[in-house]
Amino acid sequence: MAINLIFGKEIKTSQGMIHMKTKSRGKGEIMEVLNVLNLTKQYGSDDNLVKAVDDVSFKINKGEFVAIVGPSGGGKSTLIHLLGGVDRPDGGKVLIDGEDLYSLKGDNLTVFRRKNIGIIYQFYNLIPVLTVKENIILPAVLDGRQVLDDYLNELVKTLNLNNKLSYLPNEISGGQQQRTAIGRALINHPKLLLADEPTGNLDSKNTKMVMKLLKYYNETYGQTIIMVTHDLKLAKQASRIITFEDGRIVDDKNGH
Ligand SMILES: Nc1ncnc2c1ncn2[C@@H]1O[C@H](COP(=O)(O)OP(=O)(O)OP(=O)(O)O)[C@@H](O)[C@H]1O
Ligand SMILES: [Mg+2]
Repeated sequence: MAINLIFGKEIKTSQGMIHMKTKSRGKGEIMEVLNVLNLTKQYGSDDNLVKAVDDVSFKINKGEFVAIVGPSGGGKSTLIHLLGGVDRPDGGKVLIDGEDLYSLKGDNLTVFRRKNIGIIYQFYNLIPVLTVKENIILPAVLDGRQVLDDYLNELVKTLNLNNKLSYLPNEISGGQQQRTAIGRALINHPKLLLADEPTGNLDSKNTKMVMKLLKYYNETYGQTIIMVTHDLKLAKQASRIITFEDGRIVDDKNGH
């Protein structure tokens, strides 16, 4: 059985469960799950230069539910992509639970992302040829990891997808597709759940259902969540609201 040592974590990758040796932490325990330092991302050059993320620094503690709001084109999606490791910054650092995301290369970055970061998008991004169940367990399967039946059953029950597991994405509603995407994002117990306009394509009933689910995972399991939204009513349900404009944080305050 292959054993990879990735940043102090012993991971058996062929079959069976992942065994993790977490770092022992004493009094100086890192409370922040996310530490962003002088993060910068630019597009274009000269007259067309856009500073989508402009020297941004902030921290997010474990268990926070953070809403990011701000005008269109302000850089919210760019920031989410940088936090999720799906883009590369021009400068600065993203530390997730103390690990420097962009010091990881190739497969190490892929594995780290899959284990530690869940992402939900406005348009679901499900794999069309996989069933609801196969989409949800995909990140675990890619890790060569079994999903415990009890955990999967509880997850799909909470997501209210138990009778849709064998359906394909195009056979279910938008709300059900987004709940499938939430399941996929949560299957590996990520340290950080990122959501970019997760309700942007949903009607009010499904919007309420998705918000209820996110709050449930935040309140019940202490899931750390960063959610971009245009909807100020939704943002107010978060514990913290960051306003992002012209690539910078212009306001950072408590929510509800
Ligand atoms: N791949 C790209 N190439 C060039 N410019 C880009 C690219 N992606 C984003 N931008 C520019 O970066 C800026 C920030 O875009 P971003 O999509 O992050 O904004 P946003 O806050 O998510 O907007 P919205 O609320 O409309 O989703 C915009 O000026 C955009 O045009
Ligand atoms: Mg956006």
